[in-house]
Amino acid sequence: MDILVIGSGGREHALVWKLAQGSNVDKIYAIPGNPGIKNNAECISDIAIDDNKKIVDFARRKNIGLTVIGPEVPLINGLVDDLQAADIAVFGPTKAAARLEGSKSFSKDIMRKYKIPTAAYESFTDAAAAKEYIKKMGAPIVVKADGLAAGKGVIVAQTVEQANEAVDEIMCDKAFGSAGDSIVIEECLIGEEASVLAFTDGETIVPMIPSQDHKCIFDGDKGPNTGGMGTYAPAPIVDGKMLEQIQAEILEPIIAAMNNEGKKYRGCLYAGLMITSDGPKVIEFNARFGDPETQVILPLLESDLMEIMLSCVNGTLKQMSIKWSDDAAVCVVLAAGGYPRKYNKGDIIDGLAEAQQTGALVFHAGTRENNGKLVTDGGRVLGVTAVGADMKAAIDKAYQDVNLIKFNNMYFRKDIAQKAFRHIKTK
Ligand code: AMP
Ligand code: GLY
Repeated sequence: MDILVIGSGGREHALVWKLAQGSNVDKIYAIPGNPGIKNNAECISDIAIDDNKKIVDFARRKNIGLTVIGPEVPLINGLVDDLQAADIAVFGPTKAAARLEGSKSFSKDIMRKYKIPTAAYESFTDAAAAKEYIKKMGAPIVVKADGLAAGKGVIVAQTVEQANEAVDEIMCDKAFGSAGDSIVIEECLIGEEASVLAFTDGETIVPMIPSQDHKCIFDGDKGPNTGGMGTYAPAPIVDGKMLEQIQAEILEPIIAAMNNEGKKYRGCLYAGLMITSDGPKVIEFNARFGDPETQVILPLLESDLMEIMLSCVNGTLKQMSIKWSDDAAVCVVLAAGGYPRKYNKGDIIDGLAEAQQTGALVFHAGTRENNGKLVTDGGRVLGVTAVGADMKAAIDKAYQDVNLIKFNNMYFRKDIAQKAFRHIKTK
């Protein structure tokens, strides 16, 4: 079977890498792909990911057996609906179901209606009413633009003044465009964050190995938020018992809720959670795989990813037995110095061949080929993943591999996965 993967980041590289190991996979195409993806797939760089018509025509022409969508934007643009209308099998939620990520007020309202644990909140389309609510609730408090804002539309305000400024920025200055026409203001949750991604066919939902992202740019979770500076799995804060609670109180209820609302959700559901002293609570749902969570989850998956995805498309997930390795995985993101603010592009990347010789798994996120040389082409450039028998072994190997790679002003966090040791004892 031939597969088409949509997207160009580290997450899509990991998806392509894992799909390529499938026993019934003949050829993989990627739109648009990246220089790392090129090792496992033919990259079609002249079709834009928001051009649904061209993507559907391509899939039809190539007789694609399964399309997998990486990023949220094509999901929210209804690419799944258009592929389904053309009878092309596609892994991912429809436009209506992807609102779970695309609209924070939709997602909060459905959680409230179906009693899924999440922060207390109110939605507003009027700045004065929003500020009135902030005054009543006090700080700390969280202000969120309703729509997609590339992970930047969330302000955790420590004071009422900061929260009011955030309201002005989102609603009056339109810092995130129409994503800020409406806002959600919510209770600030206290605890440790974890990501639980799950496969679902709309009836059955099967969690993957829990993971943890590191969103801040600096060690010790300091500095501004980024797209994610590194991940590890399994995250011991979500032990077997906690995962059962998440399954019973969050994952199963949201899938049943979406069904009840006539918006059957199929694909990967990402629950961003705060593990509070009151139990797990949803910070947000995403309608796709996490980036860079995927770069640590898929290397631990022992089953055939294409078979799992097809079972989600066909409604037969219940019959699948999904196997995971007992190892640990760590991904360290190598960023261009200055990211998430101003950074340089076009710097030559050295050492990848050496890293690959040591068995390093290097996922490309922001790279480009220039006159036969690999150069940087984004803020997050590469994700270096290592698998080890335990977390310490995985961390050590990841940083050994990182040390082989070099580019001008390369920056990475030195403390990825250290949080795991709050919950596991070292020997
Ligand atoms: P989001 O884009 O919704 O994932 O939010 C980005 C980050 O803001 C999250 O990863 C959390 O660190 C933080 N955050 C969002 N909502 C809350 C909340 N209600 N309480 C505390 N922190 C939050
Ligand atoms: N790692 C965060 C996300 O994918 O949204």
